Amino acid sequence: MTAKETLTVLVTGASGGIGGAISRLLAEQGHRLLLQGRNAARLQQIKAELPHSDRHQILVADLCDRAARAELVRSCEQLPGGVDVLVNNAGIASFSLLSDIRDAELGRLLHTNLIAPMALTRDLLPTLQRSEGAAIINIGSAFGHIGHPGFGAYGASKAGLHGFTETLRRELADSKVRVHYLAPRAVDTPLNSDAVNDLNRALGNKSDSPQFVAAQCLRLLQSKHGRRRFIGWPERLFIKVNAFLPSLVDSALAKKLPLVRQFARGETPPTVQDKTAPSAL
Ligand SMILES: NC(=O)c1ccc[n+]([C@@H]2O[C@H](COP(=O)([O-])OP(=O)(O)OC[C@H]3O[C@@H](n4cnc5c(N)ncnc54)[C@H](OP(=O)(O)O)[C@@H]3O)[C@@H](O)[C@H]2O)c1
Repeated sequence: MTAKETLTVLVTGASGGIGGAISRLLAEQGHRLLLQGRNAARLQQIKAELPHSDRHQILVADLCDRAARAELVRSCEQLPGGVDVLVNNAGIASFSLLSDIRDAELGRLLHTNLIAPMALTRDLLPTLQRSEGAAIINIGSAFGHIGHPGFGAYGASKAGLHGFTETLRRELADSKVRVHYLAPRAVDTPLNSDAVNDLNRALGNKSDSPQFVAAQCLRLLQSKHGRRRFIGWPERLFIKVNAFLPSLVDSALAKKLPLVRQFARGETPPTVQDKTAPSAL
């Protein structure tokens, strides 16, 4: 375990499926949670359900708003024990062909999934560096490692998050801060639109529960060194194959293209069951 037994953990997107599950699991382990999100009512509900509810705190902020982010950092700095762990989990998704994505959607996606976690990490780093149990966990996606048609903007944001995580781990190699990266495949949460769920069903793709992802997050937190974890089989294999023999994955995904196009455009294609393509938001 880490040098400190009770950690203060800031979970961004704690009002969502994975963030809520991570918060519950860490609270059960005795940690103190700072629950961040935009939906105050949902955060209150999650906080009320946590063990030792009154030791946890809610921090409502839109992470894309620079002033709100600065206020969030100020609140963290003012805590007597500071913050030990930052889980950059907040995120949004988009399932669109490039030709259908507008600038506003591109901007919102890259801001939420990449710029905001980078800026928040930078601003919270001085506080984190004072902790004996300091860690940063960035929640990426298998789609950051496998370019999947229909997920260009989302995949780019998560590929960027992975590049940022790797760089930060190396920049902080001589510090106490451990930098981790967790890449789930599809997870059963409200993040996925009906079209994405329909696509996954049509392709026979598997998905995980948020609780399973939270357990993987806890394993990273318990690790003494900065680590990367990819969740799911055969997605882990696809990621390796994609790195060494991308043409094989090109061919497998080319077969899915007509189906992806139909779902991305909201048309209802005939149901197919094909288990050879990777699934992962
Ligand atoms: N679900 C999947 O299939 C899947 C797969 C791989 C990776 N992931 C990644 O896992 C992470 C969590 O996703 P999830 O599935 O739990 O999604 P979710 O249930 O939709 O939750 C998303 C969370 O992000 C927060 N959020 C979004 N934009 C924000 C902003 N501008 N400022 C502050 N908070 C913001 C939301 O807060 P409010 O609701 O309070 O606004 C919510 O708490 C994301 O990074 C996602 O990319 C998900």
